[in-house]
Amino acid sequence: MDETQLRPATAADFPKIRALILDVHINPTGLDWRRFWVAEMPDGQFAGCGQIKIHGDQSRELASIAVAASLRGRGVARLIIQKLLTLTDRPLYLTCREQLQPFYEKFGFKIIPQAGLPPYFSRIMRLVRVLRTLKLMTPTIIVMRLD
Ligand SMILES: CC(C)(COP(=O)(O)OP(=O)(O)OC[C@H]1O[C@@H](n2cnc3c(N)ncnc32)[C@H](O)[C@@H]1OP(=O)(O)O)[C@@H](O)C(=O)NCCC(=O)NCCS
Repeated sequence: MDETQLRPATAADFPKIRALILDVHINPTGLDWRRFWVAEMPDGQFAGCGQIKIHGDQSRELASIAVAASLRGRGVARLIIQKLLTLTDRPLYLTCREQLQPFYEKFGFKIIPQAGLPPYFSRIMRLVRVLRTLKLMTPTIIVMRLD
């Protein structure tokens, strides 16, 4: 989308990144602004963000993809994701609610079975299973990978 500007985040973006992530109810941990890219409108309005996390097992994760509700459906997430995909090696993993599988398939991600997950994602999925068993979490979470 032409009018949207994309740039690496600065420390000044951190409050907006955190507020958006909390607002859309996605994983609020690991929000180091140094890893983020942000999108903003020509008038400076904060439009969205995303990051690549590198975990202790060296697996890479596309994470914290979020767009302000009033600016969705205009290609902002596509812009952010396409940029992040140019910045990192493969394989690249992500976790998401199963409803977003078709969204991430547009970028080439494929759903993968639990067997063979990198240790970080195995731990996350074990935690998700526990939370679902305890009924502390309702959405079904999937892991996807881009090779
Ligand atoms: C999911 C989200 C990031 C999409 O942002 P967006 O800026 O509206 O997405 P875009 O406009 O860039 O859409 C890119 C493509 O995905 C499609 N798409 C957008 N949302 C979709 C959804 N929920 N399911 C399936 N496809 C979707 C668009 O139609 C578009 O397709 P096209 O390029 O073939 O026309 C946004 O709805 C959001 O912030 N949701 C809340 C936070 C969240 O769930 N983040 C994901 C965490 S895993």
